Amino acid sequence: MVIYYFCLKGTGGILLEQNLSKDTKKVWAIGGGKGGSGKTLFTANLGVGLARMGEEVIVVDSDLGGANLHTLLGIKYVKHNLNDYLNNTCKIDEIIMPTSVKGLKLISGTNGVLGAANPYFSQKTKMINCFKNLKADYVIVDLGAGSSYNVLDFFNAADEKIVIACPEPTSIQNVYGFLKSAIYRKLSRTFSHNPQVKELITYAVNPKNGKRTETINELSRCIYDADKASHEIFRKTVNDYRPCIIMNMLKNKGEQNIAQGLNLVAKKFLNLEINYLGFLQSDSLIPESVKAMTPFMEMRPGTPISSSLNKIIKRLVRDVEL
Ligand SMILES: Nc1ncnc2c1ncn2[C@@H]1O[C@H](COP(=O)(O)OP(=O)(O)OP(=O)(O)O)[C@@H](O)[C@H]1O
Ligand SMILES: [Mg+2]
Repeated sequence: MVIYYFCLKGTGGILLEQNLSKDTKKVWAIGGGKGGSGKTLFTANLGVGLARMGEEVIVVDSDLGGANLHTLLGIKYVKHNLNDYLNNTCKIDEIIMPTSVKGLKLISGTNGVLGAANPYFSQKTKMINCFKNLKADYVIVDLGAGSSYNVLDFFNAADEKIVIACPEPTSIQNVYGFLKSAIYRKLSRTFSHNPQVKELITYAVNPKNGKRTETINELSRCIYDADKASHEIFRKTVNDYRPCIIMNMLKNKGEQNIAQGLNLVAKKFLNLEINYLGFLQSDSLIPESVKAMTPFMEMRPGTPISSSLNKIIKRLVRDVEL
């Protein structure tokens, strides 16, 4: 498939053409660290929006302790969930449920099943590979709160990494902390078979270490001095790591600038470029839609928040930078 994307550079724009198969960015992860920032709400409505555009979508609740994506989609009873697949009790097809929206299916997480919240790395790998092979145009994985290895591993394995932030300083701090943990986890796993480089990475993130390398660039220089071949892999891993950010619950458009501030800090300390995709306003319709167990994209498709989400979806699908 040939896609076109419009890249804003300075005041002018450049129209670029690129050959991409639709499968290039099939699995999207929705994370962000802080609880309550709107990850699940966004996932449910993103799923509805994409399905309404004619795409085949599966939304996945990867929360293995406090699943609630099904509730936002109006589903009261879940027969089989992700835990049944992990335990080999069910095949993947048996845990995919239909929803009331044409083209949208759900894989539910679990609620309070002892032992389910901590799958082994091999189980996570199995799950992630399975998502990549699902029969769908898009698989959207809703991540739980926090920056546990479970959450980070799902985030890092996704083709498109999306964080949801709210304008409060605590939320921004959380998102920064989440991205920092995520990139270092990615680097640590990339060099899991290289003890020398892995040790440098572990050293860099150890807060007890007074002389720790504070930025990714400093770490990069240390790795360059230690092992030039690994440095090239390190550099490429960081360069290819391009998360996206969406601001949620904005009370005015000026609050969008907070995303730029985060971008500057992430660039300085983590050498990360964060792609800003847009915002969702704070809307009193949301609690109403949550209570009614109906996504706002279904309940009120013509409202400002629905059109904001549609703009975000277009950017995501067309891989357009703002
Ligand atoms: N744009 C918005 N406007 C108003 N309220 C919102 C908005 N987005 C989210 N909320 C409110 O925040 C609540 C929490 O949202 P949600 O469950 O999606 O957060 P979460 O990030 O998934 O939390 P957790 O990390 O605990 O899973 C929603 O039930 C809703 O009431
Ligand atoms: Mg959630």
